[in-house]
Amino acid sequence: MTALLETRDLAMRFGGLTAVEKFCCSIEKGELFGLIGPNGAGKTTVFNMLTGVYKPSEGEIVLDGTPTTGLAPADISARGVSRTFQNIRLFDELSVLENVMAGAHQHAKINLLDALLRTGRYRREEESQREQAMRLLDFVGLGDRAGLPARALAYGHRRKLEIARALATQPRLLCLDEPGAGMNHAEKLELSALIRRIRDELGITILLIEHDMKLVMGLCERIQVLDHGQTICCGAPAEVQCNDAVIEAYLGAGESGRKKTADH
Ligand SMILES: Nc1ncnc2c1ncn2[C@@H]1O[C@H](COP(=O)(O)OP(=O)(O)OP(=O)(O)O)[C@@H](O)[C@H]1O
Ligand SMILES: [Mg+2]
Repeated sequence: MTALLETRDLAMRFGGLTAVEKFCCSIEKGELFGLIGPNGAGKTTVFNMLTGVYKPSEGEIVLDGTPTTGLAPADISARGVSRTFQNIRLFDELSVLENVMAGAHQHAKINLLDALLRTGRYRREEESQREQAMRLLDFVGLGDRAGLPARALAYGHRRKLEIARALATQPRLLCLDEPGAGMNHAEKLELSALIRRIRDELGITILLIEHDMKLVMGLCERIQVLDHGQTICCGAPAEVQCNDAVIEAYLGAGESGRKKTADH
């Protein structure tokens, strides 16, 4: 297997605070890889560096052999990295379908003039985006809700819509930031099956941040654990689960380390 994503000694500092330090990971093509750790460990900061939201203070990011360190979010997205957000970001007044089409928009092969004049090329492009968005909605199980405004969706469905929108950019690497946050047990089971299908049927490599240990352990092939910005363990779920440093980090963090507070 070849590494799709490699990071070397990534660090992110905010003034005097080091949010992430010496972050090294290597994610293989087709892997389902977990990133866990107590609240404030630096997980979302890693995503923000990988997707160009933050420029790393140190280190290097290499995507399929090509450095992407410091590139703008749109350039990184165009190279095949897509994400969902810990706090859901949808266009509430747009329809479910339009939200997915908005995700695909940046890959459109049309220019402004085509759009203004609504040329044949523009209409064909829009039609093909619509069809692709419908296929993605069917894939995540929201096909029958395509015409509703996004605000009308139940919470668990909003999370799935975010995933469909992230898929619309046709990523090679999909970064999911706590997709199960706020979901009930049944919704989490569905989510887990969906993530597996994204990898198995669409062949997309997955990097998953998730606080629900059962979900992460049942889904991921390898897991890297952060605590206070440092990697304390990386390995198979069974290894991670009984690692002393990991147990210590979660016990030290207390309940707040395992519970999600940011979303509700
Ligand atoms: N833009 C920023 N400016 C200053 N500090 C930041 C910024 N972003 C993150 N931090 C800090 O970096 C640390 C890591 O935050 P991060 O959001 O990456 O943690 P996390 O592991 O995603 O936590 P959670 O599980 O609560 O989502 C925290 O101390 C946070 O306050
Ligand atoms: Mg976070």
